[in-house]
Formats: sequence, C-alpha cells, structure tokens
Amino acid sequence: MKLPFSQLDANGRLRHLITLEGLGRDLLEELLDRAGDCQPNSAQRPVPAPLAGWTVAHLFAEPSTRTRASFELASVRLGAYALNLDMMLSSRAKGETIGDTLQTLESMQIDAFVIRDAEAGVLERAARQAAPEVSIVSGGEAHLSHPTQGLLDALTIRQCKGRFDDLVVAIAGDIRRSRVARSAHHALAILGAPEIRIIAPAELMPAAGEFPGARRFDSLDDGLTGADVVMMLRVQRERGGGAAAPDGDDYHRDWGLTAARLRRASPGAIVMHPGPMNRGVEIASDVADGPQSVIFRQVANGVAVRMAVLTHLAEARRARGR
Ligand code: NCD
Repeated sequence: MKLPFSQLDANGRLRHLITLEGLGRDLLEELLDRAGDCQPNSAQRPVPAPLAGWTVAHLFAEPSTRTRASFELASVRLGAYALNLDMMLSSRAKGETIGDTLQTLESMQIDAFVIRDAEAGVLERAARQAAPEVSIVSGGEAHLSHPTQGLLDALTIRQCKGRFDDLVVAIAGDIRRSRVARSAHHALAILGAPEIRIIAPAELMPAAGEFPGARRFDSLDDGLTGADVVMMLRVQRERGGGAAAPDGDDYHRDWGLTAARLRRASPGAIVMHPGPMNRGVEIASDVADGPQSVIFRQVANGVAVRMAVLTHLAEARRARGR
C-alpha cells in the first residue's frame, strides 16, 4: 500500500503512523531503540509523563485483545488520558461515518486517535481530515497494514537474534489476508533481512506482485528448512475469500507447526505468533508453550513499541511548536 501523502512532518518525524512501507531504516531503528528504553527493566526510562495533558482516543471497530490493551496501557503509562470507545457499540454502528465520528471527538480536544478498522482507506481519510496538531495511528487496517505489530515483531527478532542482516525469516499461514505479514515484510525488508519466505496453501497465498522480494513456498516443510525465525499466522476466515482452504484437523496436518516440523528450522530458531492463536490448528500447543516460543515476549514488546510511537509523536509535535 503506497500512501499518496506523507506520514512525516517537515522535520522527517512521524506526524501519523499508518504504514511502515516507505519509512527509512533510521526512523525504524530509532523507534526500536526507543521501545527498548520503554521496557520495564530499562535504566533509561523516558521522562515520567511525556504525554501529560494529552488525550488519546482508541477507536476499535474490530475485535482486539493485545493491540487494544497495549495501546491503552501505553497511553496511560505515558501520562495521557485514554478514551476507549468500542466502535461496535458507538454511533458508527448506527450509520455515522468515521469522518463524522472523528470530527465529533476532535471537538472534545483529542490529541491522537488510534484506529482499527476493517475497511481499507479509513486511516488515510482520517489523517487527511485531522486538525494539524492531531495524529492518527493505525491499530490495524483491513488486510493491509498493522505497523505497530511490524515494529514489535522486529523488536522481538532484534532482541532474540541481535541482527537482521543474515536472517532467514519464514512467515506461514494465511498470508493473503494478513496485515501482520504485510507489516512484518515491510519492517524486515527496511531493516535488511536478506531472506523473507512466505509459506501458504495456494488459496491463502497473496496475489503475484505483493510481497516483493519474498520467496514463496507451497510446502511448510520446505519453507521451514533452515529458518531462523518462524512466524505462524491464524486463518482469518472472517475476512472472506479463501473458502477452499483446508479446515481444522486437515489444516493442522498439512500446515500446522508441530515439534517434529520445527526441527527442520535452525537449531536456535524462535517461534512467533501475533495472537490470537488457534491451538491445534496453525500451531501445536506444545510448540506455542515450548522453549523456542517468544509469543509472550511479543506481547510484552507491544506495550513498549506503542509507548515508543506515542512518545515520538509527542516529541515531533513539540518540535513543530504545536
Ligand atoms: C492480528 C490482527 O488483528 O491483525 N492480531 C493482532 O493484532 N495481534 C492477527 C489476527 O487477528 O489473526
């Protein structure tokens, strides 16, 4: 997804965060470093309340556990007031457009909106109409983009592997409908991972031309061989399409990550999953809970990454004098 407008301000800092695509390596590394400083055990925690006086509105129009909880915690831990609107219960469900909802809330002095929506293009429309001091942050847009997930995945890989420049990263499952896979691909390509593999049955493979540079595999066993990082994805039936894809036990037999299959990967390979997991379908329970799994580290990193993004936006706004 190429954005026809810039997410950056005149200083090259983020004004909004809608996609990682097109961002520079330095900016991504700065966000990862900053997220490291936001971790509970970091000696360099940021100034106590960089978002004091801010209100961050979290507008989620799709189910969410990890992303929503971690954004809300990030806002609160940075000193902001978090306004949490369940969009499935808001006036949007009565036919109000997202534009009208945003304008309504902007009149109540919101500094940043975190938005999750099933419709492609909502985030960009929100950013175009936002008042100059207001930032728009994606909490997941359709199948297209989930930039803070891409950042937390990159942070987790960097912490576990210490580098990107010789890594083989295997992403397996419902790639076609996955915004997580798209943002991971954006992040890893920018950060210099030399080999990104996408592994899926034909029905769940993205269209030709998507995921430029990635190697495509139609067998999990082949795709896992020699991988340093294995990222498993849930089958997202709720997004429609891909109806011919195998189901339940059949899926697990051919496409599930089991302990035996994981032995094909590099000995120190890490296992990732953005959640929610369907245990016994795309991943066996003993692998999800096993020694190579970093799934709960990803969750912890989600809070730190979202703190880093919000702090960056606040600093960038101060530098613009707003
Ligand atoms: C994912 C999402 O919503 O895109 N979850 C998440 O944000 N951690 C993946 C999914 O729903 O399968």
